[in-house]
Amino acid sequence: MIYTYTPHRHIARNAIKLSLKSSSNIVSNILSRSISRSLTTTPTPTSNHQQQQLLDLNHLPPSNNTHLVRLTTLEEQREGEFLTESVFKHHGYDIDQMHAIKFEHRPVKSPRDFITYNFMKYLRKSFDYFTGYIEPIDENHRIKIANSENRMTLEKWLTRFVVLESIAGIPGAVAAFLRHLHAIRLFRRDKAFIDTLLDEAFNERMHLLTFLKMANPTKFTRALLWVGQGIFANLFFLTYLFSPKTAHRFVGYLEEEAVNTYSRCLKDIELGLCPELEDAIVPKIAIDYWKLPENAKFYDLIQYIRADEAKHREVNHTIANLQLNGEDRNPFALQIKSDPRPQPSNTLENHKAQGWERKDLIL
Ligand SMILES: [Fe+2]
Ligand SMILES: [Fe+2]
Repeated sequence: MIYTYTPHRHIARNAIKLSLKSSSNIVSNILSRSISRSLTTTPTPTSNHQQQQLLDLNHLPPSNNTHLVRLTTLEEQREGEFLTESVFKHHGYDIDQMHAIKFEHRPVKSPRDFITYNFMKYLRKSFDYFTGYIEPIDENHRIKIANSENRMTLEKWLTRFVVLESIAGIPGAVAAFLRHLHAIRLFRRDKAFIDTLLDEAFNERMHLLTFLKMANPTKFTRALLWVGQGIFANLFFLTYLFSPKTAHRFVGYLEEEAVNTYSRCLKDIELGLCPELEDAIVPKIAIDYWKLPENAKFYDLIQYIRADEAKHREVNHTIANLQLNGEDRNPFALQIKSDPRPQPSNTLENHKAQGWERKDLIL
């Protein structure tokens, strides 16, 4: 059974009675939890008592942008028997390498970097403002936000994810389309970029489809995406046409922020600041795509999605460092086994968050 419910009736709100404790209690609570946290994939489940010390769910703000689609069992999510297999299989990640992913920023080194980075920051700040998202400065601030009207509820997280992923699916598809046009117009080989770019676009769409199994965006959010896609897709198309390096650098910086957002989400789950996220069921579509165990937690899913974003960050920053006039090949498409130097891969092997410099690549 699938049903939609409104946030003010949220079960967690009624189930957890809360009281604010002094900040010293909160900090010591977090420290002890961090130390005792096991090294398993999922975080140690947060007890109601611990949540009571950290959260005041009376401050749950209402959501106007997204309603939840509550799935209670995997059986409810069966897609039917006529689904086609995708050609873009997920490469999978080493668990330790995946857990080691963190926010990393490629320093601004050129006027191109400066323009793309600041444009991306402007977009990010506008997006934060309109979705009521506040970036925590430190652990205390994170808890303060969780106890205020700016608390990130499951609905707010899902709104953010849906909008982010809907936009993030554009660059790979547009870039692949334009490179395809170049190849057939200029009679030259693409040197394997198109596949990686289409894979990225598909991967972003899988992120979106996963979240859409859990969220039902309102008409306002859908309208925002119509307008947003119209503007962003055309802007990106024109930018890529005249300066593909600029377009890829912009995406590299955008992906840095995606890693940042998912890292915050994971941290909030670890600290028990959003119990609804901890209990959310992982949709079947995600279990199939990332080959997760059937009892996977939402935390595991976000780990994979964050690693995907880190991969996009690396790929786009690297492509922005290449000669894109047909000279260089895509270094992620093929590893030259006869050369002992470490090279980019399709997984998190030899991962470089800031991208590979051209001088270090076998092209
Ligand atoms: Fe994504
Ligand atoms: Fe991404």
